[in-house]
Amino acid sequence: MTKRKPIKKAVFPVAGLGTRFLPATKVIPKEMLPVIDRPLIQYAVDEAREAGIEQMIFVTGRGKTAIVEHFDVAFELETMMSERGKDLSILEPTRAVPGDIITVRQQVPLGLGHAIWCARAIVGDDPFAIFLPDELMIGSPGCMKQMVEAYNEVGGNLISVLEIPREEVSSYGVIDPGEENGALTVVKGLVEKPPVEQAPSNKIISGRYILQPEVMRTLENQEKGAGGEIQLTDAMARMIGSQPFHAVTFEGRRFDCGSKTGFIEATIALALEREDMGAEIRAITERLLGR
Ligand code: UTP
Repeated sequence: MTKRKPIKKAVFPVAGLGTRFLPATKVIPKEMLPVIDRPLIQYAVDEAREAGIEQMIFVTGRGKTAIVEHFDVAFELETMMSERGKDLSILEPTRAVPGDIITVRQQVPLGLGHAIWCARAIVGDDPFAIFLPDELMIGSPGCMKQMVEAYNEVGGNLISVLEIPREEVSSYGVIDPGEENGALTVVKGLVEKPPVEQAPSNKIISGRYILQPEVMRTLENQEKGAGGEIQLTDAMARMIGSQPFHAVTFEGRRFDCGSKTGFIEATIALALEREDMGAEIRAITERLLGR
């Protein structure tokens, strides 16, 4: 196996407007909405740490400071909790290693591709991961760990994909699939939000990426794509042919927490599995359904 440059950096674009959750997201960033008791951003950061990633780069915007605060020490809260003999271990995953959280600003949300490009100076010449925190990926091992394992085998660029009903593809980035080998599929092409009849497959990009730093140079051109936004999918599509490009079919579950119904689905599914509340939530659900 060739020695690959390890994936130690991850970019979390969190500068979007979150319009689908208004008015909840007028003041609170979408990424801070909790699924039960963990904000979305923390699920993503925990998944990154599990995959061996050390540097978390948040691309933030106006009104997003709560995301950075979440990973800081809450001195008053912790002092008071200690004085009252309360267990602080629940806060442990929110303590970042000093220096491991880096923020850059995207002043105007011009699109996902533009958000990623804002992190170019920190990414430098290293391959890096991307997490869209509103896509909640639940698996064991986690999605990024599965991708890093695949990266160690094939190198180059990887995106996580999943299959959805064909009639829904026009809301997503879709791959043109080539040869398949287990969970890995060669990517021959990528298209953002295609009309259903023009979609090359029903395999959609699902919020996790490992990319080579050259993508930043492609994003440099700032060309606008679907929806008038600077699209990451278009920049990645231009790299196909010059660098290896694979899709990894994630073994696990994905919840689209950028949509209200997906968010509710995630909350119910994870609550039903929790030891501390699963039985109670099941009873409540059954009562609500009149069973
Ligand atoms: P979405 O497409 O979900 O957009 O972005 P959004 O603004 O968050 O939400 P809606 O559609 O208005 O409800 C996917 C991810 O990319 C980030 C978002 O923060 C989210 O994590 N993003 C998007 C940026 O950081 N900058 C952008 O310009 C666009």
